[in-house]
Amino acid sequence: MELRLEGISHRYDALTVLEDISLTVEEGETLALIGPSGCGKSTLLGILGGLLQPSAGRVVAEGAVPASCLNPLTYVFQDFALLPWRSVADNVSLALEHHPLSANERRERIAKVLQSTGLSDFATAFPGQLSGGMRQRVGIARALAVMPAVLLMDEPLSALDAQTRDLLMEDFLDLWVRERTTAVYVTHNLNEALRLADKVAVLSRRPGRLREIVPLTIPQSERGSSAALAELARLHDHLWGLIKDEARTAEREVADV
Ligand SMILES: Nc1ncnc2c1ncn2[C@@H]1O[C@H](COP(=O)(O)OP(=O)(O)O)[C@@H](O)[C@H]1O
Ligand SMILES: [Mg+2]
Repeated sequence: MELRLEGISHRYDALTVLEDISLTVEEGETLALIGPSGCGKSTLLGILGGLLQPSAGRVVAEGAVPASCLNPLTYVFQDFALLPWRSVADNVSLALEHHPLSANERRERIAKVLQSTGLSDFATAFPGQLSGGMRQRVGIARALAVMPAVLLMDEPLSALDAQTRDLLMEDFLDLWVRERTTAVYVTHNLNEALRLADKVAVLSRRPGRLREIVPLTIPQSERGSSAALAELARLHDHLWGLIKDEARTAEREVADV
């Protein structure tokens, strides 16, 4: 499925948060959305997912949704949002409960996503027994269980330590490459954007405007190689150049309030 944002603006009462954002997320593509804190990234993701009605503009979703897809636009939350009294498998099952599936289909889907997220051996464990990284795997598994057409992720790794983040990113990539799920990935971490995305949309400070869309042409599978280092460093500098001053000003504005 392809998602198109056309002239999206949003305000909360008197506060204008987003201004005239137009961009396209193509089928199978991962778009990273970066920008200073408070610029409207989560708001934009909410609009994409249909949780929020924009003040102006529209979201167009195009393309067929496969029959196996139970929920075309699916969120992964930063804080995992797991139920502590349910096992890993039952947390994943939660996403399927309101859908008309046979017990067999349900079991098969759960087994499949637990396997693809490396959780098969933890099906009967409880969230409290797992590390943060493993808990977020459960969050991802739950999102994937509905076989989403588009995965919407709001800083899914930001609650994790750096090492866990790196490990999970590599696993995400394996999964992406295999499933080619269309994804929008909000982060304030340039390295995550540079590792995962096919293109990076850079927003200005609030009100968030689209400053630039930076395409990343090196295939994800080659970004870990030393040959890619120079180009990735160049892109990092470019992205940082775009957001540094904005972030600094936004920081001062917040401090001034
Ligand atoms: N429900 C809301 N009502 C009023 N203001 C909000 C609401 N949600 C977010 N905001 C404000 O809108 C701005 C953008 O928020 P958000 O989209 O969360 O930014 P980001 O995710 O980029 O940090 C912030 O100033 C925030 O305080
Ligand atoms: Mg946010």
